[in-house]
Amino acid sequence: MLRLEGITAGYEGTRVLRDIGLEAKEGMATVLIGPNGAGKSTTLKVINGLLHPTGGRVVFQGNDITKIPAHERAARGIASCPEGRRLFPLLTAEGNLRLGAYSPRGRAAAEETLASVYDLFPRLRERANVKAGRLSGGEQQMVAIGRALMSKPTILVLDEPSLGIAPKLVSEIFEKIQQLRKGGLTVLMVEQNAYQALRIADFGYVMQEGRIVMDGPPDRLLDLEDLRKAYFAIP
Ligand SMILES: Nc1ncnc2c1ncn2[C@@H]1O[C@H](COP(=O)(O)OP(=O)(O)O)[C@@H](O)[C@H]1O
Ligand SMILES: [Mg+2]
Repeated sequence: MLRLEGITAGYEGTRVLRDIGLEAKEGMATVLIGPNGAGKSTTLKVINGLLHPTGGRVVFQGNDITKIPAHERAARGIASCPEGRRLFPLLTAEGNLRLGAYSPRGRAAAEETLASVYDLFPRLRERANVKAGRLSGGEQQMVAIGRALMSKPTILVLDEPSLGIAPKLVSEIFEKIQQLRKGGLTVLMVEQNAYQALRIADFGYVMQEGRIVMDGPPDRLLDLEDLRKAYFAIP
């Protein structure tokens, strides 16, 4: 579905990503885990077109999209839920959700999709008319995911959905992501919260200092001694 091949990228002369190869397979939840500063968000910027790689290719549904601008990637079905959520704080929750349906593929089914977002997050139906800036971190994350869903994506790309959210809501958010994946949506998620992310994943990649250092099915990664020490603080 979505593949990175030999991606090298960085910022103004600083190379961050080195020869990144990864694949998000259709209908699966793939997670990219790694410590702060590893290059996870940078990888997602290469995927959604906000950062152009200096080497390698981005392939989506068999097509090379490396040079395609960000808005066109969204129109093709790549929906991003960015780091820090980036909502419009003065717009209501529903106003933010509706903004996600601006593309032709989202617009046609906007009312139906909105209803399904409210079914997924009933709490948002109650909070529909509240300004996004007044919502809790967890509710804002629900809006950000809902907004991405409003574009009727083929793949949902999430950057640290658990960041800045109360622990109780973190499991809820992960459950909803798992529910979406069970409904057939392809998911690619970046997380520092390795343990919870791997629990809902079909496949995982571990990134360190701009490189993929390990990959495998979640149970194998959860078993790895090094990973346990590095990420779960288990001696
Ligand atoms: N806009 C930017 N300009 C310059 N350097 C950046 C920028 N964004 C991130 N970096 C650097 O790139 C590296 C990887 O960052 P990032 O991809 O955000 O890591 P992660 O998401 O894994 O925490 C870090 O060293 C960070 O300082
Ligand atoms: Mg990040």
